[in-house]
Amino acid sequence: MAAPARGRFITLEGGEGAGKTTLSRALAARLAAAGLPVLRTREPGGAPGAEALRGLLLTGGIAWDPVAEAMLMFAARREHLAKTILPALQAGIWVVCDRFADSTLAYQCHGHGLPRRVWEGLAAVALEGFAPDCTLVLDLPPAQGMARALARSGGAPDRIEAMGEAFHSRVHAAFQSIATAEPGRCAVLDAKMPPAALAEAAGAVLRDRLGAPL
Ligand code: TMP
Repeated sequence: MAAPARGRFITLEGGEGAGKTTLSRALAARLAAAGLPVLRTREPGGAPGAEALRGLLLTGGIAWDPVAEAMLMFAARREHLAKTILPALQAGIWVVCDRFADSTLAYQCHGHGLPRRVWEGLAAVALEGFAPDCTLVLDLPPAQGMARALARSGGAPDRIEAMGEAFHSRVHAAFQSIATAEPGRCAVLDAKMPPAALAEAAGAVLRDRLGAPL
């Protein structure tokens, strides 16, 4: 029997409250309805060890040294890649992932001031040249995104949500510059659209760029 065609790796990026999770569900449903095997996953997390690191990173109450924090993000990513993403792609499964390496560049480097060369070094070691086939960047003004995220968390923001407006503005600008620098991989979508319209626009990008039968 011939090996299945490799699946495609699609990442969703953007600031807090931009609607990545809702879009990821909608896209996975559309891909599945089109007959493609599909897996939804997220970062930090997506494999048992990476989920354990997620707990330490997001709710562990530790004020990480910035380099240590980036190393843990990439340790979680490497585990996710090795245990979940690559096996799925090799089995012909399309993978829809909520956040990936662009989030570390946006949050740790542009947000917290980690030098870019640290991100480049860690990415080279952890990813060995691996990159998403397509990245959908959800664009929402940071104030709107934070309002949505806070409404969702019942006014109890996690440590990254609590960073403040200037931080989230830098993160927002970072995603825009990542998309501008890599137009072949990234497509920017207006996240102010209603969820159904956003899913339609995202589906059109996957059809045009990856040949998804949507
Ligand atoms: P989310 O699942 O709600 O998107 O939360 C993940 C949080 O972790 C979010 O605030 C962004 C942050 N994060 C980083 O700071 N760096 C990273 O590399 C990743 C993947 C997430």
